[in-house]
Amino acid sequence: MIGEKTMKAMIIEDYCDSPDFKCVDMEIPHKLEKNEVLVRMEAASVNPIDYKMRNGKMKMMKRLTFPAVLGRDGSGVVEKIGSSVKNFKVGDSVAGFFAKNHGTYAEYAVFEEDEIVTYPKDVMTPEEASAFPLVGCTVLEMMRKHPLVGEVLDREAESSFKTNVISEPRKDVKNLKVLVVGASGGTGQVACIIAKQFLSRYFNVKVYAVCSEKNAELVRKVGADVVIDYNKTSAKAGAHTTHSKGGLADSMKSICQVIRDEHHDDYVDLVLDCVGGYYYYNDVHQHFDCRRAENGVVYSTISAPNPNDYELTFGSLLNMGSYIATNKLRSLSSSSPSFYQIFVKKNTRDLHLLMNNIVTRENAHKNLPLLQYPLSNLKEAHLQMESQRTVGKIILNIAKRMK
Ligand SMILES: NC(=O)c1ccc[n+]([C@@H]2O[C@H](COP(=O)([O-])OP(=O)(O)OC[C@H]3O[C@@H](n4cnc5c(N)ncnc54)[C@H](OP(=O)(O)O)[C@@H]3O)[C@@H](O)[C@H]2O)c1
Repeated sequence: MIGEKTMKAMIIEDYCDSPDFKCVDMEIPHKLEKNEVLVRMEAASVNPIDYKMRNGKMKMMKRLTFPAVLGRDGSGVVEKIGSSVKNFKVGDSVAGFFAKNHGTYAEYAVFEEDEIVTYPKDVMTPEEASAFPLVGCTVLEMMRKHPLVGEVLDREAESSFKTNVISEPRKDVKNLKVLVVGASGGTGQVACIIAKQFLSRYFNVKVYAVCSEKNAELVRKVGADVVIDYNKTSAKAGAHTTHSKGGLADSMKSICQVIRDEHHDDYVDLVLDCVGGYYYYNDVHQHFDCRRAENGVVYSTISAPNPNDYELTFGSLLNMGSYIATNKLRSLSSSSPSFYQIFVKKNTRDLHLLMNNIVTRENAHKNLPLLQYPLSNLKEAHLQMESQRTVGKIILNIAKRMK
């Protein structure tokens, strides 16, 4: 509130394997650069990048200065604006994510103007609004790699940003078969929502989703047409992390063989891989006829070749580089999927489209399960995130003043 000088914030004082957060009083950052916006946080979401920054395994990419406030995603109310800020006024309800910085695990956070957008607070709670920015923009970036989808996204994001209106659904729709790997996680469920809720306005969309059986119903609810339990295929838990040069030497069918033999599709147009590893690209490469897809098969991944060993070292960077280079080289052949490694970046137009025209359509956002914790229980929230078995999104409630 105006006049207040201090806020509660959850800090770490050094890199830590276990989530040793401390609740402290900190000065509210009232001094703003001209393009900055001070937001009184109502909710924040927890993402895997948060614990990867906390334990120091990514410090080669970005070093923290201590004490550090983590957290990238969030929603809240504009408290103060910098002198050149045009798009917001005090009292606006906004949501967004830090593209490079951290700091949403606190009662106030400072965003650059183009890192946030207003959202429809009549249909979305602050908790719901905080669940989508980072993962939603990641998924849009992954989808954009498909030429036809990219065209639609660029057009509609521009239109949403300028007029808050998007095109009417088209009548003569093309087929678009999408395979979402890791469909029960935070990113995967949002990928299913966007595919079914938004892309189906412009294409005849069929969503194949890969997750464990216990989550199949949930994943259907967010838009999957066909759910494949990876534990009943050669992709069973852990197999994706094995570097298999020769092939998928296993007596079980692979994911793509199941799609081909049991569902009679011998290619998909777009793979959204939220799990990573060697298995899935190899599977698509070996078992799909990529030339059958009108624009070739497009494969977008957000994870590393060894998702469980994400520590950035010179060795792992070399490994990552060779993984990307190898798959890029394989992409040169028209019989291989085009390969894209995605790192989400700031995109205000996508964020606007996402929050105002995609996830709220027909209340689709209500289908995403939220696991809510008070900010003071951040430790439990991080332990849950690190289990890598979270279904939906982990949300921190910040609005209630902490003791
Ligand atoms: N590059 C970027 O810009 C970017 C952006 C966002 C996220 N990411 C990364 O993307 C990854 C996923 O993020 P998230 O937020 O979706 O994580 P999450 O919510 O923790 O996802 C967990 C899900 O992964 C599924 N899973 C685990 N192993 C699997 C396998 N072998 N096959 C299929 N599914 C499997 C689990 O499904 P079941 O429980 O059903 O087994 C679980 O529901 C993280 O590594 C994150 O760091 C990168």
